[in-house]
Amino acid sequence: MEKILKTVCPINNDDIDADITSHDTFEKGFPHMAFKRMRDDDPCAWVDEKDGGKGFWAVTRYNDIREVNGLPKIFSSAQGIRLEEQSKEEFEARKTFQETDPPIHTRQRMMFHRGFTRKLVSTYEPLIREICNDILNDAVDLSEVDATKEIAKKLPMRMLGRVVGTPDEDAEWLVSRGDAMIANSDPDFTDHVIDKVDTDEYRFLPFRSPAGKEIYDYGEKQKKLRENHNMGDVMSMLLQPDKQGDKLSDLEFKNFFALMVAAGNDTTRYTMASSMHALANNPYIFDYLKSAPDDAPIWLSATEEFIRWASPTMHFRRTATEDYKLHNKKIKEGDKVAIWFTSGNYDERKFSNPFSFDLERENNQHIAFGQGGPHTCLGMWLARLEVRVAMQELLKRVLKIEQIGPEKYLRSNFIRGIKNLPVRLTSA
Ligand code: HEM
Repeated sequence: MEKILKTVCPINNDDIDADITSHDTFEKGFPHMAFKRMRDDDPCAWVDEKDGGKGFWAVTRYNDIREVNGLPKIFSSAQGIRLEEQSKEEFEARKTFQETDPPIHTRQRMMFHRGFTRKLVSTYEPLIREICNDILNDAVDLSEVDATKEIAKKLPMRMLGRVVGTPDEDAEWLVSRGDAMIANSDPDFTDHVIDKVDTDEYRFLPFRSPAGKEIYDYGEKQKKLRENHNMGDVMSMLLQPDKQGDKLSDLEFKNFFALMVAAGNDTTRYTMASSMHALANNPYIFDYLKSAPDDAPIWLSATEEFIRWASPTMHFRRTATEDYKLHNKKIKEGDKVAIWFTSGNYDERKFSNPFSFDLERENNQHIAFGQGGPHTCLGMWLARLEVRVAMQELLKRVLKIEQIGPEKYLRSNFIRGIKNLPVRLTSA
């Protein structure tokens, strides 16, 4: 097959001055030109916030993001990882281990890491293929589907659930609760839209959402079920003492459970949705991958490119613990700093032709998983496996994927995603 591997991502010149603090902006898709302008002209830009926010520094170039991310003593996660302003009490009540710095973070991360190592995760491949079966067969039978809703939304929680040990029948409910928490700025997913209604009474719950309490309670129930009974799943493993004899406290476990449901669900979903969007709109990518066997090396590079292309977690916040100079700007102690991973993944200084999808991109050191810092995604091996297997199994079942209506994007300045993707699937 001829080696035509490139496609170009839609760029909208109108978004060059887009307000990157506004959730509405991202409903039109990621404002690539605004971020390109910042990368070129003002790579460490001060951004004012409306609605009572103190403002923040937006770090948009690849190398700078890695620099900030690699200095957790100076750019701390322990004062919040989202831009939202929180009181000390709110922060303490809602904090997970992601909102801690080394060495506290290191100890807890080691406890959780046991369940997500590359080696352990690789053993789940047959299970993950099996889960794809029903969901993909149903979607292909329907022929015209919303690929995000019928495929990308259903797979990740089922997969994560089987791995950590929650029952299949709870997956849909967990997805809806995860959505209500993490997509708390989109009225399609929650009645408690963070910037539109008063969410004060939920300020002590994860993501300022009533769904946070439901997830806490569910996590507690799952923990109780395993207290005197090892169910042979990741949750049982995490509840065991580690090699040093340390055990997770109740609150540590509950918060981790809520974090997993929030972090492991929509990010993988939107990566799958973006990958299907690329497959539907670029027949050569479709054909090339369809003809590749499951163990062909092209699948490894394609998966990394799918993930770079999607970059669903747009930014995380840090707080400066001392003054720091970046591009002649003086970041002051206490300032909020947002590292924009998605922008870094499209930085021309790092990636050749970043707006082209390159199935064979060499040395694809994207930072979609927050690589380079202590918080590098714990679920990255699982996410990679899920995306690769889901796309492989989909391509085995279809001769063609056509997009039959415009895609719709999530209303969020935090998570980037295609929430509706109408397609026609022609079965193989
Ligand atoms: C394509 C899918 C995914 C993407 C793009 C993604 C992205 C990220 C990013 C950027 C971070 C860094 C956060 C920071 O710097 O503060 C992170 C952390 C994390 N992710 Fe993921 N993630 C994905 C899938 C998953 C899955 C499937 C899980 C399930 C277990 C997961 C669990 C976590 C956890 C627990 C952390 C916190 C790690 C720590 O603080 O040490 N993620 N993820």
